[in-house]
Amino acid sequence: MIDLVLTGGTVVTEGGEARADVAIDGGRIVAVGLAETMPAAREQVDVAGHHLLPGAIDVHVHFREPGYTHKEDWGTGTAAAAMGGVTTVFEMPNTNPPTRSVAELREKRAAARKARVDFGLYGLLAEDNIGELEALAAAGVNAFKCFMGNTFGNLPSPSTGAMLEGFEIAAKTGLRISLHAETASIMAWRQERLEAAGIDHPLAHVAARPEIVAIEAVGRAAVLAEWTGARVHVLHISSAGELRPLAEAKARGVDITGETCPCYLFLTTADYDRLGSVIRVNPPVREAKDADAIWDALQSGLVDMIATDHAPHTPEEKINPVIWKADCGFPGVETQMPLMLTEVAKGRMSLSQYVKMSAGNPARAFGLWPRKGRIGVGADADIAVVDMGRRETIAAERLHSRARITPFEGRETIGAPVHTLVRGTFVQRDRTLVPGLEGHGRQVTDIQQMAQPAPRHVEESLEYLLAEARAA
Ligand code: NCD
Ligand code: ZN
Repeated sequence: MIDLVLTGGTVVTEGGEARADVAIDGGRIVAVGLAETMPAAREQVDVAGHHLLPGAIDVHVHFREPGYTHKEDWGTGTAAAAMGGVTTVFEMPNTNPPTRSVAELREKRAAARKARVDFGLYGLLAEDNIGELEALAAAGVNAFKCFMGNTFGNLPSPSTGAMLEGFEIAAKTGLRISLHAETASIMAWRQERLEAAGIDHPLAHVAARPEIVAIEAVGRAAVLAEWTGARVHVLHISSAGELRPLAEAKARGVDITGETCPCYLFLTTADYDRLGSVIRVNPPVREAKDADAIWDALQSGLVDMIATDHAPHTPEEKINPVIWKADCGFPGVETQMPLMLTEVAKGRMSLSQYVKMSAGNPARAFGLWPRKGRIGVGADADIAVVDMGRRETIAAERLHSRARITPFEGRETIGAPVHTLVRGTFVQRDRTLVPGLEGHGRQVTDIQQMAQPAPRHVEESLEYLLAEARAA
């Protein structure tokens, strides 16, 4: 007797779609195929008429705990994920305290005990914790995060010198470094000039952070990655311009991946008047030509994946007539899948294309493939059961995040996850959160397998030179 069979659904893989039952035992998929081939199971759940997608893997969420639990905590953040068909999240280190030492990683892990979905944890790579990176890797961070530009949390951006040494060390661990790729000094300079001139309307935020900040940062990070052999990931791609250094780096063989987020696909500068400071996010939402270019890049695979940058803040923190005083970011982990499925329903892309960008590619980039990111024998039974005909209207008051505010308010969506399973357990069922599952989520460290790292220029690295000097 196995645990569960999902019967009558249509399984979606990167290669296509097929009617198939899915058998689950001990949290993993043990068979996919015709009904008559399924082993006997204690429970059968009829999902006829629905599509079975690998649960989304969102490598960019901010769950705010410890430190800012009035915005979100691990219970509410992972509730939103479960409702959104997201079965694994990677959580960012800009909490209070930031996740920059082993002690602080332990604090983060204690907060994450409330998780309902599986998770990875980021360790900070900053100016003042270069000496901690190796210990953080040994203690089980799943990736590093480098803030090249200022954003929520006000963590100082590392100098290029510190970044180079950080990249040398990260390269030896094989762990990927995710980059907030906006150059701090350009933005600080411009914002100061704009503020001094009394310019404080919402679009001034774009003027402080024109696409050159992203182009410069992506280009610089890519050459540091190329020199050191570090693996890097460009977070929240917002501009047409930064696609060029990304494409060039990939062409040179740099191990670089990129993500974009729904706000850069569905919103443009035309929305600033309507949304006011609610739309403020780093990097900023830009022009329609940027959204068009990012859509093309996502569909061609140049941009590897969709993430959300789920960045909850309260309405009071978001709404301010002075743009510089409004907190940056908004929740997204619950709305990504319905928004993207709407584009599938409209014919912009196939479900197979979608699962590659929402699950397969993030799993590959962060070492979770083939255990996660696909529906197939041997994989974890992380599944979003989707009703492609379901129409909903996004409303902040119905979201499960503690932050009841979204720039997607009122947007009509077609297609929604009606059940979410994490390792074979329903964490969401019939559009309702399943109670009692805080603590079901596990950190992915024991299943993460990053390919053998290939650091370069090791004899020129600071660590090597300093070790030689000490030995002499
Ligand atoms: C994020 C946050 O609030 O933590 N804000 C944002 O505007 N994107 C930080 C970040 O990812 O830059
Ligand atoms: Zn960021």
